Amino acid sequence: MKARIKKILKSIPFVNYLISKYNWYRDSRPYHWMTKQMHMVDPAQNDRSKYWLKCGVNSSGKFRVGYGVYFDAGNANLITIEDGVWIASECLFLCHRRDMSNYRVGDDYNNLHFKKEPIVLKRGCCIGMRSIVMPGVTVGEGAVVGAGSIVTKDIPPYCVAVGNPAKPVKYFKNANGSEQDVALTSK
Ligand SMILES: CC(C)(COP(=O)(O)OP(=O)(O)OC[C@H]1O[C@@H](n2cnc3c(N)ncnc32)[C@H](O)[C@@H]1OP(=O)(O)O)[C@@H](O)C(=O)NCCC(=O)NCCS
Repeated sequence: MKARIKKILKSIPFVNYLISKYNWYRDSRPYHWMTKQMHMVDPAQNDRSKYWLKCGVNSSGKFRVGYGVYFDAGNANLITIEDGVWIASECLFLCHRRDMSNYRVGDDYNNLHFKKEPIVLKRGCCIGMRSIVMPGVTVGEGAVVGAGSIVTKDIPPYCVAVGNPAKPVKYFKNANGSEQDVALTSK
């Protein structure tokens, strides 16, 4: 009986069209789901900040981290991340380096002491993909660090900084449209 009803329905062109549309949707649904997971939604994104907190990073946890970001887990307590920070994928955060102030010809580099310095990411700043943030650096509030930059010195607030070493290439305007006082922001 069921088969007969199906046959009759299929003989009506519009109904047949709807059935084929439905079948296409049903069959391609897993594919759509997969593409969504891979390209549009990053399921671990909201959990990574919790993992960073567990490692000892100073933060309220209201920041977002892309995939494959490395941070100095052994010195996580030297990293401070304020609210609204966005760290894009594959960045690297270093809080230690060898102290080369007394390094002389004939010395062994591997015997040099480690110098540990904090990293501070101020409210709402953004670190572009594959950037490296070196020890002792503060990235200012609302600053945008371009993809692939190497941040060796402090970045002033509300500017775009790019390159190796990262330097400000533009400053965002104030809410009223006036230019920022760069002398003040770079302090
Ligand atoms: C830095 C960035 C924000 C600049 O955006 P913008 O304000 O539109 O600035 P422009 O594209 O006008 O670029 C300004 C200058 O910086 C240069 N520039 C832009 N991005 C750069 C980068 N990543 N590295 C080096 N130079 C860069 C441009 O060539 C341009 O130079 P010019 O003035 O000599 O022509 C953007 O290019 C970027 O890198 N964003 C991060 C993207 C990212 O990591 N996304 C991850 C997914 S969330």
